[in-house]
Amino acid sequence: MTQQASPLASRVGGRRAEGGRRQRSVDPAHTTDVVAEVLLAEPATFVDACRAARAAQAEWAATPAPVRGRVVKHLGRLVEENADALARLVTREIGKPLAEARGEVTEIVDTCDFFAGEGRRLYGQTVPSEMPDKQLFTFRQPVGVAAVITAGNFPVAVPSWYLVPALLCGNAVVWKPAECAPATAEALAQLCWHAGLPDGVLNLVQADGPATFDGLTAALEAGLVDKVGFTGSTKVGRRIGELCGRHLQVPCLELGGKNPLVVMPDAELDLAVEGALFSGFGTAGQRCTSLGTVIAHRAVHDEFLDRFAAAVERAVIGDPFRDVLYGPMIDQRFCDRFLGWLELIEPHHRVHGSTGTGRITAASPRKGFLGDPDDGLYCHPTIVSGVTADDELYRRETFGPIVGVAACDSLEEAVALANGHGYGLSAAVYTRDPQTAFRFRAGVGAGMVSVNNSTSGAEAHLPFGGNGRSGNGSRQSGIWVLDQFTRWQALNWDYAGRLQKAQMDVADPIPDRDFRL
Ligand code: UN1
Repeated sequence: MTQQASPLASRVGGRRAEGGRRQRSVDPAHTTDVVAEVLLAEPATFVDACRAARAAQAEWAATPAPVRGRVVKHLGRLVEENADALARLVTREIGKPLAEARGEVTEIVDTCDFFAGEGRRLYGQTVPSEMPDKQLFTFRQPVGVAAVITAGNFPVAVPSWYLVPALLCGNAVVWKPAECAPATAEALAQLCWHAGLPDGVLNLVQADGPATFDGLTAALEAGLVDKVGFTGSTKVGRRIGELCGRHLQVPCLELGGKNPLVVMPDAELDLAVEGALFSGFGTAGQRCTSLGTVIAHRAVHDEFLDRFAAAVERAVIGDPFRDVLYGPMIDQRFCDRFLGWLELIEPHHRVHGSTGTGRITAASPRKGFLGDPDDGLYCHPTIVSGVTADDELYRRETFGPIVGVAACDSLEEAVALANGHGYGLSAAVYTRDPQTAFRFRAGVGAGMVSVNNSTSGAEAHLPFGGNGRSGNGSRQSGIWVLDQFTRWQALNWDYAGRLQKAQMDVADPIPDRDFRL
């Protein structure tokens, strides 16, 4: 594809924001193919976007929620009509296999379907008062301006988890997408604007991490941001949490994971292998819900490992537009970081699953590879067995196609290993025993638990989020995300015509406490 004459840019208050550093987004499957050029904005543009959002928010909040719901409905339909083009763009820009990219686009539609209806609910409550001629109510108030910062691995689904409910609830939004997916971000933003959002209600800021942090710092300082949503690394999440805390704000943080998959002696092993394959290596292991460590009971450990290694050896890797388990790494940065993590493999470990480790190239080929590996940023799948709780590989999130395998002797030990690294996003157990399943659920610290299903593949209307190093307990999706983008307002209305004092002017029925049957 030839480069566009005019690069992609931020859009603030309905107008293109000029200026900034030019950067190229390349197809990670064909690194000579430039997908787009983008102007990465300065911190001041982020602040301007927050100001534009602030100016537009009151009128948007005054728009009846069912009308805002219509915009969300139109967005869902527009995304459906453009699903193929959007999915292809996701595949081209970040290398996710087309089937998964299509699933990601479906997740936006699911989110819109859910929240279009929420425009006609967004319920508050009527609550009885302790006094006569007085009524109590609760209302959900929009928070105001939401600044949303998202990652490159789910460049449209995860942004929609923030944008759709935030907008539906009457907030204005400043969205800062990942630098590695500017064309995909522009496409999603265009779909939102064409769904009928007034100017300034959704602002797009294409910027790098440091400029965003500086812009966010200044915007919070100026009182222009009321809620921050962030999906990304634990390290950056901590910094955003600290920054928001200084402004008495609680951000919505969706951070990393080291998601365990426990295989108990009564597990259906082939099902567990299928789950481990999909969650360990789908999206080249670059989901926050990707499998980190399999914890296999010693009774089935060797058999599981043999079958898992054979399945990974057989899996087809290559061109993401073809039928593959996974394609290239998202971009050069993700690829380089992954190669660094391979150094965590120690002498007491054993490596399985491929004909090499690190980059797949003509010199280090992979059997059955589809396409030319030297065209893109492809990496061998790597299973590392012999992992123990003392290993860095057990503790560290390794965003890429690498899965550790550890052994355990009991459910208690499995639960301890599932929690011991301090992450708590997603955890899976394979068992046929309900007691094991429920004990695992109760013992594990993860926000999301799967039984006989992999660590990935959350449905769009169940609470999504983690604890510990995976997040601060905030939840996205479904009715639960409403608490991120609204604040409860309590109203009491006294129509007695005289001051009735709570707790003091309350009737007190007198019981006969000595009564016995
Ligand atoms: C993420 O990796 O940030 O559950 C989100 C899943 C996807 C979403 C992952 N539906 O794997």
